[in-house]
Amino acid sequence: MLQDFSTPVRRETSTVVLETERLTLRKPTLADVKAIASLANDRRIAENTRRLPHPYRQDDAVQFIKAIARSKTGAKTETVFLIEEHHTPIGMVGVDWREPETPELGYWLGVDYWGRGFGTEAARAMIDYTFEEFDAEVMISGARVVNPASRNILEKCGFQWNGVELHRFESLGSSSPVDCFRLTRGVWASLKRWGKSTRHDS
Ligand SMILES: CC(C)(COP(=O)(O)OP(=O)(O)OC[C@H]1O[C@@H](n2cnc3c(N)ncnc32)[C@H](O)[C@@H]1OP(=O)(O)O)[C@@H](O)C(=O)NCCC(=O)NCCS
Repeated sequence: MLQDFSTPVRRETSTVVLETERLTLRKPTLADVKAIASLANDRRIAENTRRLPHPYRQDDAVQFIKAIARSKTGAKTETVFLIEEHHTPIGMVGVDWREPETPELGYWLGVDYWGRGFGTEAARAMIDYTFEEFDAEVMISGARVVNPASRNILEKCGFQWNGVELHRFESLGSSSPVDCFRLTRGVWASLKRWGKSTRHDS
């Protein structure tokens, strides 16, 4: 449940660091280029993310990080975090503000790190940060209909299915059906408040 993961926010001069049970989420820098490129350069990741190119080269990571560096912390531009486990980069999570009223959650992990609950843990931290930091009333996200892992993450985070749309995927060079999801601030707040109940049998 959402409340199992509290997300302490640590503010260091100008950057925000999010901490979960096992992960640290921080702003990526040019020093992370090699690690990001080596994690992201996998077709299994590119085919499930709309804008990740394939092959993914170090120069793609440089351009990406320079674009992030231009955005101020707390600004409603692209809010992106590098996910680290024990100081080792394992993926990225972020929110895209292209539509200012509907921030869109996105994430990917290096393939070696799949299947250990890291995707859910990072997504929950990003959702908490977005609703706590910004005045958005709803977040959206999507998963290709052939991507049950991502769909599971969204459902575990409280997102509700909202229909299917065709979206273009850069690495596929074509469009693909995507299950679309929404999470309202009200549902998120309600899940966060859902405390433990105790049962007494007599
Ligand atoms: C999607 C992604 C982040 C998942 O990360 P992860 O850390 O493995 O995910 P989690 O372990 O937190 O949870 C995945 C859930 O899906 C389930 N799952 C994984 N693969 C599955 C499959 N093929 N079929 C059904 N369920 C599956 C897991 O069992 C888990 O559910 P559970 O906790 O109820 O057991 C990772 O696979 C990835 O980076 N994929 C490529 C990029 C991508 O798809 N991004 C999302 C688009 S925005």
